[in-house]
Amino acid sequence: MALQESTAPDPYQTYFEPTVYLNYFKMGQSPVGDECLYFLLKHYHAVFKSGGLKGKLLIDIGSGPSIYQLLSACEAFEEIVATDYTDKNRLELEKWLKKMPGAFDWSPVVKYVCELEGDRDKWAAKEERLRRTVRQVLKCDVHKEQPLEPAVLPLADCVLSSLCLEAACLTEEAFRGALRHLRTLLRPGGHLVLGGGFDSSFFMVGDRKFPCLPLKEKSVREALQEAGFVIEKLETKARAAETLSDPDADYTGMFVLVAKRSD
Ligand SMILES: C[S@@+](CC[C@H](N)C(=O)[O-])C[C@H]1O[C@@H](n2cnc3c(N)ncnc32)[C@H](O)[C@@H]1O
Repeated sequence: MALQESTAPDPYQTYFEPTVYLNYFKMGQSPVGDECLYFLLKHYHAVFKSGGLKGKLLIDIGSGPSIYQLLSACEAFEEIVATDYTDKNRLELEKWLKKMPGAFDWSPVVKYVCELEGDRDKWAAKEERLRRTVRQVLKCDVHKEQPLEPAVLPLADCVLSSLCLEAACLTEEAFRGALRHLRTLLRPGGHLVLGGGFDSSFFMVGDRKFPCLPLKEKSVREALQEAGFVIEKLETKARAAETLSDPDADYTGMFVLVAKRSD
C-alpha cells in the first residue's frame, strides 16, 4: 500500500501571520523583541561594517517579513536575495520593498542602525539603498538539498540566516541537514552568518505557539564543523533578567556567528 501523505496543515504556511510577528519589531513595545533586535543589529553591524565581510551576492535565508537583518549588509554587498518559506511573508516583504500601502514602518529600526554607522540622518537613503540592493524575493525550504530550487543563482559570497534555523528545524538531524544545504549556496571560502537563540523551545506569534529546536553552543559548533564550516567568530549574550518574565519566548541566550565554508 502506498504511504499516504500527511494532511496536517503546514504550521508556517497556515498559521504564521506576518503582521502579528512584526509586532516584535515595534521598538519599545516588546521586551524580547527589543532584546533580540538590539543584540542582532549590534553584531550584524560589526560583521558587515567597513573592513568586515563584503562581496557581490548575499542570500538571506528565511527572511520572514523582516529587513532589519539586511540593514548593515546592504552597505557591503552589491546584491541581496531575500527568501522565505511562506507566501504571506514574501508578500509582506514585497510590500515594504515596493513602498505599498500598509507596509510595516521599519524607520525606527533603520534610524538605529544608521546611528550605529555614525549618521542617524541618512536613514531614508539607507532604506532606498536596501530597496535597490534586494533584487529578488524567492521561495526557500532549508530541508531541500537545493533550498532555492527551482531558482538557480550564482554561488554567494555570504549566506545569512537570522532566527530561522531553530524555528525551521525541529531535530538536530534536520538542523545539520539544513547547514549542509545552505553550504551548497556558498562559493568556496564564502561565509555563513547565523543569528539565533539558545535553548529556545518555542516562540509566540499572537496566540500561536511555534516550536523550536533548543540549540546549545556545543551542538551548534559540532553541527557547523560536520557540515564543512570553520567558525571564525561567535558572539553570545545571556538573556537579560528583565525579559525573563516575558512569556513570548523561552530562549536563555542569543548568538551571532560567522563561519567560513571550508574546502
Ligand atoms: C522566527 S521567523 C524569522 C524571520 C526573520 N528571519 C526574522 O529574523 O525576523 C522564522 C522564519 O523561518 C521560516 N521558515 C519556516 N520553515 C522554513 C523552512 N523549511 N525553510 C526556510 N524557512 C523556513 C518562517 O517562514 C519564518 O519566516
